[in-house]
Amino acid sequence: PITTSIDSDGKLSVGGCSIEELVKKYDSPLYILDEITLRNSCKAYKKALEKYYPGKSLPIYASKANSSIFMSSLVSSEGLGLDAVSEGELLTAIKGGVPNEKIVFHGNNKSDKELEFAVRNNIKVIVDNDYDLERLDEISNAFNHDLEIMIRFTPGIECHTHEYIRTGSFDSKFGFGIEYLNILFNRISNTKHLKLKGLHAHIGSQIFELDPHKDLGEIMVKVILEAKKFGHNVEELNVGGGLGIRYTESDDPPSIDEWVKTISSSVVEACKKNNLDFPTLMCEPGRSIVSTAGITIYKIGAFKEIPGIRTYLSVDGGMSDNPRPITYQSNYSACLVSNPFNINSKNKYTIAGKHCESGDVLFKEIELAECKTGDLICVFGTGAYNNSMSSNYNRIPRPATLLVKDGEAEIIQKRESPLDLLKYDVLPDRFIKQN
Ligand code: LLP
Repeated sequence: PITTSIDSDGKLSVGGCSIEELVKKYDSPLYILDEITLRNSCKAYKKALEKYYPGKSLPIYASKANSSIFMSSLVSSEGLGLDAVSEGELLTAIKGGVPNEKIVFHGNNKSDKELEFAVRNNIKVIVDNDYDLERLDEISNAFNHDLEIMIRFTPGIECHTHEYIRTGSFDSKFGFGIEYLNILFNRISNTKHLKLKGLHAHIGSQIFELDPHKDLGEIMVKVILEAKKFGHNVEELNVGGGLGIRYTESDDPPSIDEWVKTISSSVVEACKKNNLDFPTLMCEPGRSIVSTAGITIYKIGAFKEIPGIRTYLSVDGGMSDNPRPITYQSNYSACLVSNPFNINSKNKYTIAGKHCESGDVLFKEIELAECKTGDLICVFGTGAYNNSMSSNYNRIPRPATLLVKDGEAEIIQKRESPLDLLKYDVLPDRFIKQN
C-alpha cells in the first residue's frame, strides 16, 4: 500500500510530504504518485516471476493505466517492458527510454502509419485481426525481411468483472476467436516473411479470482501444441494483465506473488505434461502496478443539504479527472486530510464533482468526519485509469501530477491552464471579419 503517514498535528502525509503543504504550493485538484509504492509493485512482479518461472520472463507495464514519460522511465529503470496501443503511447515509451525491443504494440485498429512506425523501430506487433496480418505481410514483403509477430486470441474465459472491461470471452472486439486459429496458423505458414514468435491473451481487468488465469495458462499451452502441428515454434507466451486491486475494504484481491505463482505453475505444469520447452513468459499488469501508488486531492467548496435526504459536498474536480465512478460505478475510499481516520465520522456525505452533469458524483453516501469548505479530501487508489482516461469536459484543465519520495515532491506532469485548452480552437477568417 501507499506510504502515507500521519504528521504530529494529526494530518495526512504521503511519501514524507505534508499534503496540506503540497496543495498550498501546487494547488488542487492534485494527482500524487508515490515512487516507493510504484517501485515496489514493479519489483514484486520481477521477483515473483524469477521465483516461479526462473530465467525466462518479462513483466510488461500496460501503459494505458497511466502513460507519461515519467512512468515509462520508471518502469524501464525497474527492467520492465511496456505495452502501448497508439502512436502517442509508443512515443511516450520511447521518450521515457524504454528499449524498443521491450515494447509491444497492441490495438484492434492500428493505423498504417502506426504499424509502419512499429516495424521500422523494431517494436513487436501483437496481431489482433486479419487486417493487421495482411498489412504486416505486405510490409515485410516490401522490406524483404522476416518479421516476428505475436497473435492475440480470445480464449473463451468468462470472469466476474465489469462488462466493459471483460475481454477474454468469444464476443469481444479484440483478437482472433480460438476456433479460427488453425486457419490462421496455415495463413501465417503461407506468408514469405512472417514468423509466429508468440501468443497473447488478456481476459479482463480488476479480476480477483485466480482460476481464470490458471485455465488461461493451460489453454495457451494447448494452443502452442496446435501451432506446432503447423510448423510454428512458439517461444513467447503473453498472458495479459488483469490482477485487481483493493479500492475499498470489501475488495479482496490476491497478491502479486499469488497471481504470478498461479499463472506460472499452470504454464510449467502444462509444459511438463506435454514435454514442451518452456516458452518465455510475459504478463502485462497495468492497474496493479500504478493504482495504489496514486491518490487525488480535492478541495471542498459548496455544501447543499436536502433535509432528510442527503448532504451534497462539492469538490473542485470530478468526472474529468476521474471518470471511473460515472463510467463503471466504481467505488473508492477517501478521508479528510485533516482527520485521516475520520474520527467522529457521524456524517454521511455525497461527494459531487463540479461538472455540469447530475451523475458527476464521486462518492454516494461516504462516512467522513465533520468537514467544511476549504478542507481537503484524499481519494485513494487513483493511480490507474484516472489521469489516462481524463478529459477536459466543461473546459476544465487537467490537474498536475506530483511524484513524492523521502519528503521531496517533484512535478511530473504540469497543470493545464484554461488558456491551454483554447490552443487548438480555430476561428475561420470570415467569422473574425463578421465580428
Ligand atoms: N493488456 C491488455 C491487452 C489490456 O487490454 C489491458 C487492459 C491490460 C493489459 C492491463 O490490464 P490491468 O492489469 O490494468 O487490469 N479503463 C478500465 C480498465 C480497462 C482495461 C483495458 N485493458 C478501468 O478503469 O477499470
